[in-house]
Amino acid sequence: MTPALPASSPPPNWVESGHPLGWLINRLLAVEPLRQLLFWQARRLIIRTAEGRGIAWRQRREQLRLAAEPLLAASTNPAATTPAYYRARFHAYEQGNLCWAAACEAEQATDSMALRVWPQESDLAPELAQQRLRGAIFAAIEPSLSGPLQRVLDIGCSVGVGTFALRDWLVQRQRQQPLDQPAPLQLEGLDLSPEMLAVARVREAEWLASTAAATSPAPIHAWHHAAAEATGLEAGSYDLVTLQFVCHELPQAATRAVLAEAARLLRPGGVVALVDQDPDSELIRRLPAPIATLLKSTEPYLEEYFRLDLPAALVAAGFHGVRREAVDPRHRVLVASR
Ligand SMILES: C[S@@+](CC[C@H](N)C(=O)[O-])C[C@H]1O[C@@H](n2cnc3c(N)ncnc32)[C@H](O)[C@@H]1O
Repeated sequence: MTPALPASSPPPNWVESGHPLGWLINRLLAVEPLRQLLFWQARRLIIRTAEGRGIAWRQRREQLRLAAEPLLAASTNPAATTPAYYRARFHAYEQGNLCWAAACEAEQATDSMALRVWPQESDLAPELAQQRLRGAIFAAIEPSLSGPLQRVLDIGCSVGVGTFALRDWLVQRQRQQPLDQPAPLQLEGLDLSPEMLAVARVREAEWLASTAAATSPAPIHAWHHAAAEATGLEAGSYDLVTLQFVCHELPQAATRAVLAEAARLLRPGGVVALVDQDPDSELIRRLPAPIATLLKSTEPYLEEYFRLDLPAALVAAGFHGVRREAVDPRHRVLVASR
């Protein structure tokens, strides 16, 4: 038995609907014209800030859409079922993750997110911020691993930014293993948005055509369109399952169901790793009220996320050896074994 981790901090005041600030924010968001105005403001601010930092937001959106639209059918699994909570408005998109705008702006939004981790470093390039963010995540997973990783699933892969970083780390890790004949690496992404998966395929094709792939080819084995809580994938067949920035998009019941599914997919001794917003982060706890309002207007399950005791949920799903590590000023990684 591993000792239980000390409890995380309670939700930030701005998240808690019972706190006067949280209550006020919820009341403002309940006024439809005001909510729409906030959505619009949030979007404008996000795009303007990103373009100011060198992310070609609108240009890249058009480029991706043109290339991804023909791949929609190949990215859609007609048998996938979409839970009602997934259809909520997210990130200032009325159709949440199920639309082209969300899919074709996800790469840019993910790079902007990485830049926001280090707000003081105004010269930091988006790709360097992304590398630093992912490098810290994978370094935090490493101590829970023993031996080579062969089959890996990235749940909530979106357009593959985290999946590709995972691939680079896995390839590098495999090279460092003292094996003459390393087993072939099988990395898979899974998401419930066919539009996101179509964009992931475009991004992968771009990568395969790049010089990086010429020296280190390791294509993603499969892009699965399925719900994370009912993947339909083979039980006990994965060495590592990752959930990068997914849990804050889930109601608590869904998080519990997804963790149970991850436990089902992992072989005994396999590892699950979650990275997401850190309830103990001072930067998050002290967000200025206007920013907090914008954030809350775009993340419907944030309060549920911050209220959930994730280490306890991991144990309840059948995991042990839960470790928690703050990996940057905003995020923490939880790692546990099956
Ligand atoms: C913030 S994005 C994750 C970003 C990506 N993992 C990364 O590291 O850059 C969250 C993703 O989780 C996916 N997602 C949310 N709920 C899901 C569910 N129940 N099943 C599958 N995917 C889900 C969304 O479609 C979205 O692409």
